[in-house]
Amino acid sequence: MGSRHETNLETELTAPQGNFAVQRYPKRQNERLRAWDAADEYLLNYVGQPDIDNDLSGLTMLAQRHSALVVNDSFGALAIALAADMSDAASLVSWSDSYLAHRALTANIENNEPGLPIRTVSGLDSPGDSFDLVLIKVPKSNSFLEDQLLRLRPCLSADTKIVAAGMVKHVHSSTLQIFERILGPTRTSLAKKKARLIHTKFDPTLTPPPTPWPVSWKTNGIDVSSYAGVFSAAKLDIGTRFLIDNLPTDLPSSADPAEFNLVDLGCGNGVIGTVAASVYPGAEPTFLDESYAAVASAERTFRSAFPERTAHFAVCTGLAEAANHENQIDVVVTNPPFHQNQAMTDAVAWDMFNDAHRYLADAGELWVVGNRHLGYHTKLKRVFGNCETIASNRKFVVLKSQKSKR
Ligand SMILES: C[S@@+](CC[C@H](N)C(=O)[O-])C[C@H]1O[C@@H](n2cnc3c(N)ncnc32)[C@H](O)[C@@H]1O
Repeated sequence: MGSRHETNLETELTAPQGNFAVQRYPKRQNERLRAWDAADEYLLNYVGQPDIDNDLSGLTMLAQRHSALVVNDSFGALAIALAADMSDAASLVSWSDSYLAHRALTANIENNEPGLPIRTVSGLDSPGDSFDLVLIKVPKSNSFLEDQLLRLRPCLSADTKIVAAGMVKHVHSSTLQIFERILGPTRTSLAKKKARLIHTKFDPTLTPPPTPWPVSWKTNGIDVSSYAGVFSAAKLDIGTRFLIDNLPTDLPSSADPAEFNLVDLGCGNGVIGTVAASVYPGAEPTFLDESYAAVASAERTFRSAFPERTAHFAVCTGLAEAANHENQIDVVVTNPPFHQNQAMTDAVAWDMFNDAHRYLADAGELWVVGNRHLGYHTKLKRVFGNCETIASNRKFVVLKSQKSKR
């Protein structure tokens, strides 16, 4: 199983559960990043070899017989390998806030064992209850971890085996304290290949305070709502601030000022699209993001600002969801992500620029904010043939590109 890429990218995961072909999603030419990390390997080795640690003997058998939950699996490596050790993959749930992670799991299932019935559940929904085994990939943000563990509590029993893993740089004493405070007694393992395991014994008698999320704060006269884990959830990002302070004054000629479609691509909590809707009363916005929590936040933000106005919300990765056909959208606004799964990349921004070019109407415009050093100006010129600097300061630029009339 598993094929080698021209760039010698490792795509075959070797684990005690077997060998699996696992790739990042979406699949890109010249991909240089693996679809799993040392923390995934450590976790799978641990679960697959119960004799590693005496107090976990029987863990593999547990996985074979009962139900298991995988939390924050990046591209499906954990779920696919674990499923190989379970008698019924239908009792394995992958719980994640990322639509891309779910798509990755589906694609990787196709590459390994088509039809494998692993269930995917969005982070805002309950994954179910009474799991015997829970494997958690530690997220970067402590507040997101806190919220996830609070949501997880009702799914656990005193017999649930809980093992988490993360790269050493993401596992701090504050991380362990969160496990201890919300789930119960916690200890950590020795580091291996810069990864660490966290073992937690669930204490059903703990009564941690309820999650404070979603939180709400005000900017530009709007109450912004954010669920945990959403980009810049607790305050306005300075790049986002720079874009909303410098939204272009003229609309593209394709847009009817009384009614035009505007897409907030990678909307996060929806602050850009909602402020734009207040500046341009004729805008009918669509909010798109690959994070379930982001789209739910954007919906709360927009509906509280404009309960009477029409807007659309979709969890997805591209503009195809916002348009019935190409050449249709008047304005796309975006503060593109510059990493995917904790790795820096400009690949998503490239995808967004190309997607915008495809779905914008003739003379439709893409408005972008980015760090100066990211070089979006050059990329936009490559895709659109033009790029105007609307505003710039020491750190950021606001750029506008227009789709040429055919
Ligand atoms: C830099 S944040 C900007 C969020 C928000 N617009 C703001 O300025 O506060 C980028 C957003 O893009 C989303 N994102 C990442 N990859 C994506 C993809 N492939 N498709 C759609 N959204 C994506 C992230 O979840 C994140 O919410």
